[in-house]
Amino acid sequence: MELRDDEIEALGTQGFFMRDAFLGKEQAHAIHAEAKALVEAGTLKPAGIRRGADRTEDAAVRGDFITWVQPALETALGALSRAFTELGEALSAGAYLGLGRFDLQLAHYPGDGACYVRHRDAFPGQSNRRVTAIYYANTDWQPEHGGVLQLHLETGTLDVEPRLDRLVVFLSEQLEHEVLPAHAPRLALTAWFYGRDVAR
Ligand code: OGA
Ligand code: MN
Repeated sequence: MELRDDEIEALGTQGFFMRDAFLGKEQAHAIHAEAKALVEAGTLKPAGIRRGADRTEDAAVRGDFITWVQPALETALGALSRAFTELGEALSAGAYLGLGRFDLQLAHYPGDGACYVRHRDAFPGQSNRRVTAIYYANTDWQPEHGGVLQLHLETGTLDVEPRLDRLVVFLSEQLEHEVLPAHAPRLALTAWFYGRDVAR
């Protein structure tokens, strides 16, 4: 995959870019179906906040359900994972980000008003998550469903609707963001890219 100049520039100046029709309708529907099947199989767990002994579950802070995914090659989620691999390579080549491996997470907001309060995905200096890439798999998102991703930019806030086949990429250490209450089931697949210096 190729990144456009305006996408690379937006990442540098605003800390994010967005691309619609990332994989095409057919793939997007297949990804939606596989993600929904994982949810229905009961494999997702309430998302925790903080790690290790400090870990707590607080639905007022973060009300989604998550699982890590390592999809098989021939699945639609496998194709998404390969697209994320190519995205990481393109970001390293085009934006000199030096990205290595990524973790892939499926998050499901059940639609009961669950949200995720304002946060950053990483803190500078901890050399962990460098880039966040989110792919939305909501086949029929409508404004009344809510669950928009609100980005806190220097110029103000920007609401990103979690529409089918939309990709959002941002600098994990830089961009504060939140998920506003979702009033319909909401599916997102997120890749967190680590720096090349991180071994795990
Ligand atoms: C996250 C997150 C945003 C979204 O999981 O850290 O901020 O739009 N998700 O799902
Ligand atoms: Mn986040």
